[in-house]
Amino acid sequence: MTPGAAASDAAALIERLVLEYHEPELEMLDRLGEALYRETRAHIGPGPQSVATADQVEAAFGALASELASHFRKEENVLFPLLLRALEEPELASMVRGPVAAMAAEHRALPALTGGLTAALRLFPGATESAATLAALVAHLSDHMRVEDEELFPRMR
Ligand SMILES: [Fe+2]
Ligand SMILES: [Fe+2]
Repeated sequence: MTPGAAASDAAALIERLVLEYHEPELEMLDRLGEALYRETRAHIGPGPQSVATADQVEAAFGALASELASHFRKEENVLFPLLLRALEEPELASMVRGPVAAMAAEHRALPALTGGLTAALRLFPGATESAATLAALVAHLSDHMRVEDEELFPRMR
């Protein structure tokens, strides 16, 4: 593939990543945050469903939401434009390896964040909409990370 063809092929994949993964996942996060707030507060009472455990759920959600928003911003504003430029100008390839490795490392750290929220949410078995939305988000994210790790990032190696 010529550098121009490689770049336009990667540009199409990047557009798909933003439209089919980043944007819907940010919407899922909004829905999840709203459901968590509503459902944990509705179930607060004596026993394990205390204000403190609702705060734990909220903290775990906050950690996940801010990590994802920042990861998507770094990809869209820094990594993706850099990657496209390096495909057009192969002498720039060495500049992209560090950022690709950093994003891949953030992918590997994600299961700990989603797992933390899943564990905190188990304290609220009545929060069924939250649990279903979180499960859908986790599945979507796993597909998203796989496409980047297996289809996009190897183009820069
Ligand atoms: Fe992404
Ligand atoms: Fe990513």
